[in-house]
Amino acid sequence: MVDPFGREITYLRVSVTDRCDLRCVYCMSEHAQFLPRKDLLSLEELDRLCSAFIERGVKRLRLTGGEPLVRKNLMSLIRSLSRHLQSGALQELTLTTNGTQLAQYASELAACGIKRLNVSLDTLDAGKFHMITRRGDFAKVMHGIETALKTGISIKLNTVALRNFNEGEIPHMIEWAHSMGMDMTLIETMPLGEVDEDRTEHYLPLTVLRRQLEQRHGFSLAESSHRTGGPARYYNVAHTGGRLGFITPMTHNFCESCNRVRISCTGTLYMCLGQDDAADLRAPLRSSESDEALHAAIGEAIARKPKGHDFVIDRWNNQPAVMRTMSVTGG
Ligand code: GTP
Ligand code: 5AD
Ligand code: SF4
Repeated sequence: MVDPFGREITYLRVSVTDRCDLRCVYCMSEHAQFLPRKDLLSLEELDRLCSAFIERGVKRLRLTGGEPLVRKNLMSLIRSLSRHLQSGALQELTLTTNGTQLAQYASELAACGIKRLNVSLDTLDAGKFHMITRRGDFAKVMHGIETALKTGISIKLNTVALRNFNEGEIPHMIEWAHSMGMDMTLIETMPLGEVDEDRTEHYLPLTVLRRQLEQRHGFSLAESSHRTGGPARYYNVAHTGGRLGFITPMTHNFCESCNRVRISCTGTLYMCLGQDDAADLRAPLRSSESDEALHAAIGEAIARKPKGHDFVIDRWNNQPAVMRTMSVTGG
């Protein structure tokens, strides 16, 4: 699949549920309404859809949410999709998770060929963790991370940089992650979906944070050639020997080298995280047992993938750039 700007689409993100056991302040409202069950793709439909994309050249597949591990019987989907790893059609099958259920699922994930997980964690302070997630149990996430690492799965920690909230502890978090053998990426808050707070209040440009790390905390960062096919740009941190990634959609977008599309839990294909244009894939999935209509819809959608997103902090006025939340499209 090649889009109008010559970019090859080899990476698919699929949100398997809009539900989550947490309510991170920058992601979901306390009063988030979840979609009715009938609107969600069934696990069989998700399998068919992912397989159609793999047939069209997707090499890396990331399951997201909400929290993917709260979807009932998700492991049966993962087990089934792992056949594409075994056949060599798929190079990587992975998840982005909040870690709350990792202790329970880590060994099964490893057995299915999951080699790498991205775990969201914004603080190492249990009290702050509760303030950000509004219901999370910090000890459970820590236990999940340790269990997954013990099974041999590599973890990348995702940390959203929040001004006056976790910015002070980020140097320590980097050192901790690296001491555990984990990569870490810092993320700028993006204006997606309505939340209860003013996101601009805690928005921290990573250009500023990087300067703090180098000048105030004496970090020496050297550009790394490491790439995951994702938007992060990586640096080697001299004194920890670990890797630190920066995901900077606000201050420096990476749309030029975009290799991905994303599917919501209702089967809507979004060609860009920051644009509204979308294609319904649930109707062609449900209309026929043959994949012909589905492939036609995918082909038409890729042909109109936009050049990039339009996140501009000055234009926020606390209004989201797009109304859907990250939990519907999975980031
Ligand atoms: P790997 O590079 O494979 O480890 O994955 P990733 O970092 O792309 O995935 P992850 O789910 O951990 O996402 C980290 C952050 O990157 C989240 O905040 C995502 O919303 C963001 N992200 C992922 N893809 C895109 C994209 O295409 N555009 C933008 N603006 N943000 C993205
Ligand atoms: N801006 C930036 N990152 C976000 N995430 C969720 N919502 C937002 C947002 N509005 C992060 C989560 C998780 C990843 C999938 O996206 O913290 O690490
Ligand atoms: Fe759940 Fe992830 Fe959103 Fe937090 S950021 S509420 S863990 S989906």
